[in-house]
Amino acid sequence: MCGIVGYVGERKAQDFLVSGLKRLEYRGYDSAGIATVSKDNKTTLIRAKGKIVNLEEKLAKNKRDDHIGIGHTRWATHGEPSETNAHPHQAGSIFLVHNGIIENYKDLKAELKGHEFKSETDTEVLAALVNSFYKDGKYPLINAVVQALKLVKGTYGIAVVSEKNPDELVVARSGSPLVIGVGNNETLIASDASALVGHTKKAIYLNDGEVALVTKNSIEIKTLNAEPVSAKVEEIETNLAAIQKGGYDHFLLKEIMEQPDSLAETLRGRLNVKDGTVRLGGPGLSEAELRKIKHLIIVGCGTAYHAGLLAGYYIEKFTPEITIETVIASEYRYRDAYIPKDSVALIVSQSGETADTLACLREIKKQGTKTIGIVNVIGSTIAREVDGGTYVHVGPEISVASTKAFTSQVIAMVMFGLTIAQAKGVKSSTLAPYVKEIAKLPEEIRKTLDSTAEDVRKIAKDYAKYDHAIYLGRDTAYPAAMEGALKLKEVSYMDANAYAFGELKHGPLALVDDRFFEMALVPKGILFEKSISNVQEVLARGGHMIVVTNSEIDLEVENVVKITTSLEIFAPLLMNLISQLFAYYVTVAKGYNVDQPRNLAKSVTVE
Ligand code: G6P
Repeated sequence: MCGIVGYVGERKAQDFLVSGLKRLEYRGYDSAGIATVSKDNKTTLIRAKGKIVNLEEKLAKNKRDDHIGIGHTRWATHGEPSETNAHPHQAGSIFLVHNGIIENYKDLKAELKGHEFKSETDTEVLAALVNSFYKDGKYPLINAVVQALKLVKGTYGIAVVSEKNPDELVVARSGSPLVIGVGNNETLIASDASALVGHTKKAIYLNDGEVALVTKNSIEIKTLNAEPVSAKVEEIETNLAAIQKGGYDHFLLKEIMEQPDSLAETLRGRLNVKDGTVRLGGPGLSEAELRKIKHLIIVGCGTAYHAGLLAGYYIEKFTPEITIETVIASEYRYRDAYIPKDSVALIVSQSGETADTLACLREIKKQGTKTIGIVNVIGSTIAREVDGGTYVHVGPEISVASTKAFTSQVIAMVMFGLTIAQAKGVKSSTLAPYVKEIAKLPEEIRKTLDSTAEDVRKIAKDYAKYDHAIYLGRDTAYPAAMEGALKLKEVSYMDANAYAFGELKHGPLALVDDRFFEMALVPKGILFEKSISNVQEVLARGGHMIVVTNSEIDLEVENVVKITTSLEIFAPLLMNLISQLFAYYVTVAKGYNVDQPRNLAKSVTVE
């Protein structure tokens, strides 16, 4: 969702701002803009609806060598995507960009006199509010921002410049990330460290309730209550290669293909195949605490939710006397759910910033339940607020549709389950097969991708004509089917839904006709015969079926994708690779924007 960049230094601000915004494109947006201020106090404000190329066209006619500026990509919340609603917003000499939502903007707007509002946004209200404290020299810029923020209810990451002072930039955060990059005679601002990669390795992550006054060679941080904060400079670990396409046409394909390596990173140092054991340092739970766990709540949104569902199926297979509830964060945060004693909550999020997941984390913590993060982005808000955690370490995931994070989230959670089972004294003969298969997974993923990608590409082309798809599976193949359907829907805009095979007769069978095709995940040894009977029921009704399996099957289906693998337990994860490739190739065949599907955002930082 929305992205923020800012620059103060000696280079041309426009150059960094545009390149930074391009780095943040993957987050999803529908308009973009930048404002730069010249030494002689003139501001150039350029905004455009649509993609950054539109902004660049306008900038080409308005080249400036100003050394300070702010930029933004907007994902519409209040008001349609348009040039007028795009950020930066201006009020008097104040220019401001904002991520998040100002909940009380209507009340604030009613109080603000003397500003003629041009947009429908909550952000312009914040700009006008800052200006009301700044104009007539009432407060210096940073104090004007603080005064305004004290009146605000909601979430924000903001960057502010004033036309009157081309040396200072003010940033603040509450619930929406902001990173300050420390350079040589320059300071860079971004809502996501990936915009800073290649410019500096040193970053300061602002905490909620902090505001910073930034010049080209100074950074002064304080709380809204004026207490000084000593900045912790951290290293940005991401390198340039990780955020580039590396020879692939799209990030989605690159990230699918990266899975052998990204999963190997998740496993690094955590498996002992010889003993059949797992060791996770991050959760920080003692053996006694692990032994006591009776209930797991797994919380996530979208793909992270599906990862939780699938991991839950696995964990209950080998962990005695445990109940597992996997929940959708946007629902759970408003439920009156009782959390039993001896529960632990797994908070699953690739970005570590998803608003609903974060809200659940805070609610669950309030009830005194231990929270463990299954997060990818290092230093993200969820990673910082959980009691303990296991990073999945898959590197930057740029494509909006999540792929490599899913595979690693599932395995990271299964490994956490294995540590509980170990502590509870489950026999190693029960757990060792899981550890063995996990250790083999990266290589089996590589083999599966290599041996099937071309076939899947050919098959996918034939199914691009459909508007409807049904994904089917049983047991662990059911959540895998749910994730497959989500992938297809996200990128190809097909109406794709998943059902447990056993539910077919209770409704979905009525759908089967020529408008639909069916994708069935049929793993060997996992209720195999029952799934095959269900496949036959669909075929008998004229279904157009693709079967993905690691078994021999003798059925007249339109297409079979055969996976050759020694794995059985985790075969559904390999089948999900087929679903990922299928979604990718269908979408390429349809000619849509694979990496940035319409209306979606990579990191959903507003409710
Ligand atoms: C958005 C993304 C999905 C992702 C979901 C949860 O909808 O487009 O790909 O699965 O958010 O994101 P998280 O960062 O919390 O895993």
